[in-house]
Amino acid sequence: MNKRIIPEILNRKSSVCFSSESISLEEIDLLIEATKWAPSSRNMQPWKVIFISKKDDSYENVLMALSDSNQVWAKDAEIFAIFVISDDKNINKKFLDIGFCGQNMMLQAEYMGIASHPMGGWSEDLVKSSVGIPNENHVVFILALGKKGNPNQLEPELKIRECKDRMRDNNKNNFNFSSWDF
Ligand SMILES: Cc1cc2nc3c(=O)[nH]c(=O)nc-3n(C[C@H](O)[C@H](O)[C@H](O)COP(=O)(O)O)c2cc1C
Repeated sequence: MNKRIIPEILNRKSSVCFSSESISLEEIDLLIEATKWAPSSRNMQPWKVIFISKKDDSYENVLMALSDSNQVWAKDAEIFAIFVISDDKNINKKFLDIGFCGQNMMLQAEYMGIASHPMGGWSEDLVKSSVGIPNENHVVFILALGKKGNPNQLEPELKIRECKDRMRDNNKNNFNFSSWDF
């Protein structure tokens, strides 16, 4: 791969392989610090992030709120970071803002040897009730986090998923120069 691209951008992936080694509070502080520095429209920083660790009573409920296909691998994650915005109509770029914030956390995690995997597959009502998120807020995504594990210890299907090459569709024609000519 191109060595001139920031390694964390190239190496980050939506991992299904987490070890049982714990993430320290200092490491979580670093993830938070990196996340704080994300850009946001008018610097409103309209996000709230709730960290649920395996040690918390609500961990199991959050896990059960995930789609069945996500539970299969997310059960090994040590932390679920729940990214939430309010329904404040004055912050019209809040979905974009919180996306930047999540990307910062994922890249910092990669830098620190922490695997991550964003999820959009869960029941909003169940996630909210699991951790007491007020109704006027909106769960945008959940990030599974855990120290990188050993793919050889995964069950066969997950091992294949973890080890397969990441793909991007280079025929998708997402980028153009000078004018709208797709
Ligand atoms: C908003 C969002 C929601 C996603 N939801 C899920 C999900 O529910 N389950 C899952 O396994 N992956 C989910 N993903 C991960 C994507 O499938 C993944 O980012 C994509 O396939 C590219 O792979 P990569 O992240 O390894 O580069 C989600 C990603 C994003 C950004």
